[in-house]
Amino acid sequence: MSEQPRAINLHYAEAGRGPAVVLVHGFPFSHRIWDAQMMALGRNYHVIAPDLRGFGESAAPEEGYGMDDFAGDIVALLVRLGIDRAVWVGHSMGGYITLAALRRWPSRVRAAAFVATHAHPDTPEKKLQREISADSAMLNGVGDMAFSMMGTIFASEVDRQGAMAQSIYEIMVGATPQAVAGSLRGMAARPDSRPMLAELSIPTLVIAGEDDEMVGAELTGELAELIPGAHYVIIPGAGHMPMVEQPDATTNALRAFLETL
Ligand code: MLT
Repeated sequence: MSEQPRAINLHYAEAGRGPAVVLVHGFPFSHRIWDAQMMALGRNYHVIAPDLRGFGESAAPEEGYGMDDFAGDIVALLVRLGIDRAVWVGHSMGGYITLAALRRWPSRVRAAAFVATHAHPDTPEKKLQREISADSAMLNGVGDMAFSMMGTIFASEVDRQGAMAQSIYEIMVGATPQAVAGSLRGMAARPDSRPMLAELSIPTLVIAGEDDEMVGAELTGELAELIPGAHYVIIPGAGHMPMVEQPDATTNALRAFLETL
């Protein structure tokens, strides 16, 4: 196993007993997006939902926002909790982090569920766009980015002024500028994970929101196709945030997968 990079102690929520399941949030959210799954899956599993460094209530170092840094913090948390292996559930950037864990610390990943995520690297245009957004977050704060993401992360029928959407907005504006800028640059630097997928021999699940404007079905479908034996579930009525838009359907897909392990 490779050495862990400068891990920091993460804030995390925890529920239940049984086989370990770690819920990894995407960008720029916090563990709170998984509240419904924590409560439901906590009946049969030991569920751990960390706030990634710089997000939620975790400390925000000036640097260290690469996908390996995030994955290393989670591995360190699992070690601290005495957990050898966990099922990793990664949402969007959390999926990139799960892929980083599979690259660096494969023995820590018993099975993986990828939610609204994919294995491609960024295009040159996307890298440039991320760099501009990173500069803007450092100069002007994270409000503009949170506001513009409100337009794209939910299925069209979701009421942006409703309680669920507003709670996600509050989470996004709570992210620190250094974590937002650092993660944007970290995502831009992530490698192409497609070549490693054929070698994966752990059980995997891919969950897609049917109306996801950010990660379309061509990307989630390809991820499921490239991993031998992956299960693929499409959640109707969900965009990029199936765990909060369709919490029961998302929980049921995760539970059905966990029961196969
Ligand atoms: C996420 O939801 O984690 C991000 O939108 C992923 C990305 O920007 O590639």
